[in-house]
Amino acid sequence: MMRPIVDVRHLDVCFGDFYAVRDVSFSVASGEIFGFLGANGAGKTTTIRVLCGLLRATGGRVFVNNTEFVAGAENIIKSHVGYMSQKFTLYNELSIYENFDFAAALRNIPREKYIKTRDKLLRFIGFDMKLNTIVKDLPGGIKQEIALCVALLHEPKIIFLDEPTAGVSPMARDRFWRLIRQLADTGKTVFVTTHYMDEAENCGRVALMRSGQLIALDSPQNLKKQTFGAGLLSFAPRVKNPILPPSDDMEMCEPFGVHWHIRFRDGLNENAQIKKYSRDFNITRIAPSLEDVFIKLVERG
Ligand SMILES: Nc1ncnc2c1ncn2[C@@H]1O[C@H](COP(=O)(O)OP(=O)(O)OP(=O)(O)O)[C@@H](O)[C@H]1O
Ligand SMILES: [Mg+2]
Repeated sequence: MMRPIVDVRHLDVCFGDFYAVRDVSFSVASGEIFGFLGANGAGKTTTIRVLCGLLRATGGRVFVNNTEFVAGAENIIKSHVGYMSQKFTLYNELSIYENFDFAAALRNIPREKYIKTRDKLLRFIGFDMKLNTIVKDLPGGIKQEIALCVALLHEPKIIFLDEPTAGVSPMARDRFWRLIRQLADTGKTVFVTTHYMDEAENCGRVALMRSGQLIALDSPQNLKKQTFGAGLLSFAPRVKNPILPPSDDMEMCEPFGVHWHIRFRDGLNENAQIKKYSRDFNITRIAPSLEDVFIKLVERG
């Protein structure tokens, strides 16, 4: 039987006696857009570095594209994966051309093949600037798109993107996600981290990490259903100093702009509660978002 393209079993990663990743198991199917979410320090980058063959696990087993990451297999793993790291993507002082050239040399890609793949990737992102543009003169969004191309230059089956849209404009984030979806449509597996929950809605499945542990893994739709059942209530104030329900009556009460997202605790009659607070609030039922799930499971959990 074929193994999934990524198969992680009971992964531990320790730095000294600190567990950055503890007993994490999951697998990713070929062609999936897999979101890896969690607060700062949750262990996302550490897991990715193991999966890219850059960091040795302390315990557990990791398979990528049927290759187990054991001593000596690092180079095989590196040839199967593309990696856009969180901190470093391109050399700012070099031109686009030189960045590609350097990556091709590191990967030992024959020149003719490299030029062909590079040009195909540049067409894919719709790049229309000069190749001798210095990277530091590029807008942030374009820089990330070029970095994506560089990470794809050796045509890996799977690409790891560690916060590829951090700090870029909303329009550039949209463009970048269109590229991600196109890559998945052509059969590439995309493993992506982000702190933007609206982006994570695009993933087939998302994993939620908290303090090195995997706390949930499912499609965005199932996570919302499991976390909130029937749904959430939005409380929009109708009066100046509205009085919120007592906190003991609520399972969740999060401010969102000028409203609150509220869920009463089980056992309270929701309709009776809605009636009771309708003098102070305009109350509507809303579909929970992944942001609501994240707040409940990761930040409040
Ligand atoms: N080389 C290292 N030595 C010691 N501790 C480390 C090392 N790398 C990471 N850590 C610690 O491991 C934990 C997980 O870090 P990691 O970078 O994987 O988190 P992350 O989920 O990627 O966070 P962020 O969203 O901020 O990028 C953090 O507490 C971090 O300080
Ligand atoms: Mg990180």
